[in-house]
Amino acid sequence: MTRVLVLNGPNLATLGERETGVYGTRSLADIEALVRSRAAQLGIDVRFEQTNHEGTLVDILDEERGRSDGCIINPAGLSHTSISLADAIRAFAKPVIEVHLSNIHAREEYRRVSLSASASVAMITGLGSQGYVLALEGLAGILDGSST
Ligand code: DQA
Repeated sequence: MTRVLVLNGPNLATLGERETGVYGTRSLADIEALVRSRAAQLGIDVRFEQTNHEGTLVDILDEERGRSDGCIINPAGLSHTSISLADAIRAFAKPVIEVHLSNIHAREEYRRVSLSASASVAMITGLGSQGYVLALEGLAGILDGSST
């Protein structure tokens, strides 16, 4: 069975309470439920994780390198700063799609560059929680060869 890692970075555990005008009212548990429901339809097994720690993100990517077929990642603030995370995504060596709930290009200047996105095959930004589901569908297309 296809296995997909869904990785969430710092401060995403407080979604639903945190800056709801920017990030929406869905909690991370709501997003996990959305992803799991679509994954079940697509026949994809999901490991869903959140951590506030850069090194843990790197550790999980390393741990899943030989196990997962692809990854959806919202590295949150680390997108804009972490060369180590971008390197870990490259080392993961399977397709990775980056997701941002907000449109990082329409916000502060310092959010407009994503180091991790440069290591990913695609980025979905600004579609809220739906972005995770679209990323899963995109990954499924890449993995089954139907995406051209
Ligand atoms: C975010 C955007 C980042 O700039 C920010 O630091 C986050 C969330 C998003 O999903 O829109 O924590 O990744």
